[in-house]
Amino acid sequence: MKILRLDELIRQGRLAGQRVFIRADLNVPQDDAGHITEDTRIRASVPCIRMALDAGAAVMVTSHLGRPTEGEFKPEDSLAPVAARLGELLGREVPLVSNWVDGVTVAPGQVVMLENCRLNKGEKKNNEALARKMAALCDIFVNDAFGTAHRAEGTTYGIAQYAPVACAGPLLSAEIDAITKALAHPKRPLVAIVAGSKVSTKLTILKSLASKVDGLIVGGGIANTFMLAAGMKIGKSLVEADLVGEAKAVIEAMKARGAAVPIPVDVVTAKAFAADAPATVKAATDVADDDLILDIGPKTAAILAAQLMASGTIVWNGPVGVFEFEAFSHGTEAIARAIAASDAFSIAGGGDTLAAIAKYGIEKDVGYISTGGGAFLEVLEGKTLPAFEILQQRADG
Ligand code: 3PG
Repeated sequence: MKILRLDELIRQGRLAGQRVFIRADLNVPQDDAGHITEDTRIRASVPCIRMALDAGAAVMVTSHLGRPTEGEFKPEDSLAPVAARLGELLGREVPLVSNWVDGVTVAPGQVVMLENCRLNKGEKKNNEALARKMAALCDIFVNDAFGTAHRAEGTTYGIAQYAPVACAGPLLSAEIDAITKALAHPKRPLVAIVAGSKVSTKLTILKSLASKVDGLIVGGGIANTFMLAAGMKIGKSLVEADLVGEAKAVIEAMKARGAAVPIPVDVVTAKAFAADAPATVKAATDVADDDLILDIGPKTAAILAAQLMASGTIVWNGPVGVFEFEAFSHGTEAIARAIAASDAFSIAGGGDTLAAIAKYGIEKDVGYISTGGGAFLEVLEGKTLPAFEILQQRADG
């Protein structure tokens, strides 16, 4: 993907004294008191900001936080805690600027944070007048917000249209590179794990991947629908019976290409959905009418682990069982450990997947962990994300 990158501009010495507007994704979870509970996205935004500061730019950084009502400031929508955390990470104060659309004062070598960009009227719908005003604040626009790359909003799309120069920051660049490596030019076999409760939320992904991957491992409620499609009994497990036809179509599409959707040979069941519900390992053919399938069984886990170990590239989205409950966590753990041990290039994304990676402490053994939730899923769907599309257009233009 041809886009202009921030490091190229720096190599060309084009940042010194310039006003640089960075769109980051600092949309982090907070508790009821407003304390940040997980700061990965803030830490991931630091290299871009440092690069711009070190190159002598006057730096403005903004992000959305949540989904506030435009034009209606409420204290809980403020980026103040984020600015404070960023300040700690940068080892310098990061002043927070409100009402910034009509002008920002910031000197070269300084960084300010611009208050929640979704408070500005017109941000969500990418209003042209707003986008032009924001573009006028800077000499160089840097999009480093992969987590919001699937939104065509004022600060992710419009400003990139009108800023004198528009480029990708290092985080966005790294995400593009990892995704390209995994999906556009993968080392084969390419195996994807798509798991989660519902086929309906990931049907487009399953269909898109069915034309690309050599193995499509399904898990969770999605696997139940595929088991039903394969003619197996699933008891009272979570399922979308109306999507059995779609699941069959995915299985057939894979078969036609000489690829496969492995169906579990054994499962872990319970009679109730509860952490303390007694767990029973049984053959997938023995599922009783009152059983709930809550995990893959050890034989299936071993088969899938061997497949992952032999892969060239692995794309992982979703835990294969109810890994929050100890008794039903072993399938997901086996998958996680196989990914960690495999020589394959692996890319993982999505909230639950990141939680599983953290639980098993395999962060360093995954090739690339995406900061995107919805954005990562849309990439898997095969969509070109608006933030990439406009940067490509600018690079071509
Ligand atoms: C996310 O958390 O996935 C991103 O920050 C995007 O947030 P949004 O869904 O509110 O656009």
